Amino acid sequence: MASRSIHLAVIPGDGIGPEVVAEGLKVLDAVAPSSGLAFERTSYDLGAARWHRTGETLPDSVLEELRGQDAILLGAVGDPSVPSGVLERGLLLRARFELDHYVNLRPVKLFPGVSTPLAGVTTEDVDMIVVREGTEGPYTGVGGVLRKGTPHEVATQESVNTAFGVERVVRYAFEQAANRPRRKLTLVHKDNVLTFAGDLYQRVLKKVAAEYPQVTTDYCHVDAATMFFVNQPGRFDVVVTDNLFGDIITDIGAAIAGGIGLAASGNVNPDGTAPSMFEPVHGSAPDIAGQGKADPTATILSVVMLLDHLGAAEAARRVERAVAEDLAERAGQGARSTAQIGDAIAKRVSG
Ligand code: NAI
Ligand code: MG
Repeated sequence: MASRSIHLAVIPGDGIGPEVVAEGLKVLDAVAPSSGLAFERTSYDLGAARWHRTGETLPDSVLEELRGQDAILLGAVGDPSVPSGVLERGLLLRARFELDHYVNLRPVKLFPGVSTPLAGVTTEDVDMIVVREGTEGPYTGVGGVLRKGTPHEVATQESVNTAFGVERVVRYAFEQAANRPRRKLTLVHKDNVLTFAGDLYQRVLKKVAAEYPQVTTDYCHVDAATMFFVNQPGRFDVVVTDNLFGDIITDIGAAIAGGIGLAASGNVNPDGTAPSMFEPVHGSAPDIAGQGKADPTATILSVVMLLDHLGAAEAARRVERAVAEDLAERAGQGARSTAQIGDAIAKRVSG
């Protein structure tokens, strides 16, 4: 089969990042020959070690190189030895903003055989996709501090919401909802208190809804949503929400769908003006780093999202099936190492 060449940037990062990325790549290598894609990989040394060595987080020159790639696979960044915020803002958020990843896509799906802390739910009850806005909201860094360290310190952190930014993410969410069997879209916000931003989201939702008569829309305050994620997850099909709310509710999403070791995500630039970046939701897990204990499944499911994004749907389904089969057989098995899980899934993909 003639293959389309894909330039894939790989950022293993810190802690368990390199361990889980190795398994993601193992599975990608197993599926690539039949995917119609040929991957040319470039690894980028970014994260805590580079910051300690050079003081750099995401230098302009590296950012420019990343722009020339077709997609990015990221492990995780962060280390207790680096002050909080340095890598999050300087590397992760910078990449998301500069590469215009306005959709942060986070599926919340309970696979058969996976245990959930929720009682009495089935796999049909926990099957949603959260479309988190990725380039606006309170994460833009707008704000500042005055009289720092004094009793009169003032700290502001503004939430930035533009009609353009809200509309493009809402449109994307409608498109997702229109292509799922339940065709339901829930806006999660806090429009009773955050009246300016919430109202903008509401009006945009209503306007775009007119173009998608087949999609049912619903609204839920974010505090209520955290409750419903736990006691009525079946209410949700596609959720669209702002950057901060999406960050928070998707951690609950990860918890109800089997834990952070299974939660995948995509930082997507749907317009294709820059490469999209796929990464597990979890961080660098310094507490288990270097011990072969990390579950690589979240990264492997992020590879599924990467394949879908590149149009290799068949390959994506193949990897997803392999993950589902592996998960179904996990219960009752002894603990396996990071590499053993990667090997088992890669073998199912090739077999
Ligand atoms: P974390 O996600 O790294 O770890 C939270 C807990 O989950 C830990 O007990 C860890 O052992 C466990 N865990 C995480 N991934 C796992 C996996 N694949 N398999 C099994 N167990 C897993 O979050 P934490 O501890 O808050 O942050 C650690 C560092 O990671 C910090 O520096 C933080 O800033 C950074 N971070 C980076 C992210 C990213 O690169 N996207 C996202 C979240 C945190
Ligand atoms: Mg988070």
